[in-house]
Amino acid sequence: MLRFKEGFRLGVATASTQIEGGFVDSNWTNFCDEGHIKDNSHCGIATDHYNRYLEDARLLKEMGIKDYRFSLEWARIEPELGQFSYAALNHYRVELLVLKEMGIKPLLTFYHFSHPMWFEELGGFTKKENSIYFLEYVAEVLKVLGDLVDEYVTINEPNVYAVQSYFFGEWPPMKKSLKLTIDVMNNLAVCHHKAYEMIHRVLDKHKEVKVGYAHHVRIFEPLEKNNPVHIISTKLFEKAFQLELDKAFMLAEFNFPMKNIAKTKPGIYCDFIAINYYTRSAVGNFKDTYFEGPKNDLGWEIYPEGIIEVAKKSYELVAMPIYITENGTCDNQDSFRSKYIYDHLKEIMDSALPIERYYHWCFVDNFEWKEGNSARFGIVFNDYSTQTRTIKESGHFYSQMIKDNGVTDAAYEQYVAHQSYHYD
Ligand code: BGC
Repeated sequence: MLRFKEGFRLGVATASTQIEGGFVDSNWTNFCDEGHIKDNSHCGIATDHYNRYLEDARLLKEMGIKDYRFSLEWARIEPELGQFSYAALNHYRVELLVLKEMGIKPLLTFYHFSHPMWFEELGGFTKKENSIYFLEYVAEVLKVLGDLVDEYVTINEPNVYAVQSYFFGEWPPMKKSLKLTIDVMNNLAVCHHKAYEMIHRVLDKHKEVKVGYAHHVRIFEPLEKNNPVHIISTKLFEKAFQLELDKAFMLAEFNFPMKNIAKTKPGIYCDFIAINYYTRSAVGNFKDTYFEGPKNDLGWEIYPEGIIEVAKKSYELVAMPIYITENGTCDNQDSFRSKYIYDHLKEIMDSALPIERYYHWCFVDNFEWKEGNSARFGIVFNDYSTQTRTIKESGHFYSQMIKDNGVTDAAYEQYVAHQSYHYD
């Protein structure tokens, strides 16, 4: 039996653009309209969660899930600069009340890669002066929802957003500029610090709140162990993509490529470490790829021991409780997801690090950004032609673990023992 540690909780995660649908005027809706999604699916449809939130909340409850991380759609809440939609804010309020009624604790994300088109047109996070717009949105949300939420993620994966949108040009606004990539990371750091302070300033007098930012961390290793260029590239990637960003966000300690553009005082700007972990990168000549090894359906290596290695690095910077705010895999047939979950949870249970939560990505199959609907990450299957949900085998396994507070030998036999990874 794999027994969970005292107080450890299993939850699930989603993000607004990836499940809600609704054709709001956002950077991602426009990107989909322009035909950039590989399978031609559209985030304006996704799983129609915005209309089906009640059904989804009931499903969470039925599955015994008591922790739910989700994000707000800024473009829905502030469709025009300075004009807030109280219908949208109220919708989220009702959703939160429903979750509360069902005994489900929210972890609320303010920014998960999508923003209003007016913000994009003003230059988005490339401009220092634009952080005020993000903060005004946060302030308005706190007024309407603050009493219902105790735990917040300010920004999801600033490194992934900056690199995909401004370095590789894969995501909107499809720019390829190192300078803009660095500017975006620095401006997002300012947004995080200021939002962290604001949330505490507004809510501390009423209750205890916790705030963090969700860091996307991966293991970087040289493709060839003794190749000096691969070794240097690895160090550079790790430093630029995650270590320095983590120091800047959590501690306001700035080293290249991060810069203290807002003269933020050094301090502690998080109440928990939030980690999104998926895979390991093999770094060659200033380029990354994957090692031979078990792969998911998008070709990402499955490397469970990495979850502890990355958590340790953040913990060495600041000794805080750790939440795994995302971990999951693209497994279209749900043929190895239970094993993937088990292997990562086993690493967590074997470690002495204070990992208190694990939010599986994703609750339901989601619109997977440029991949569209065809890359399935959910423990719940979504039939996109009818928008009906069916709990997958991995979802039943998940419920069972929550019920048993661990993995019993019987559950292991039923869900995990027969599964294996593929290698291509
Ligand atoms: C992101 C999610 C995404 C998941 C799987 C994370 O980097 O936060 O939005 O769906 O990875 O790719």
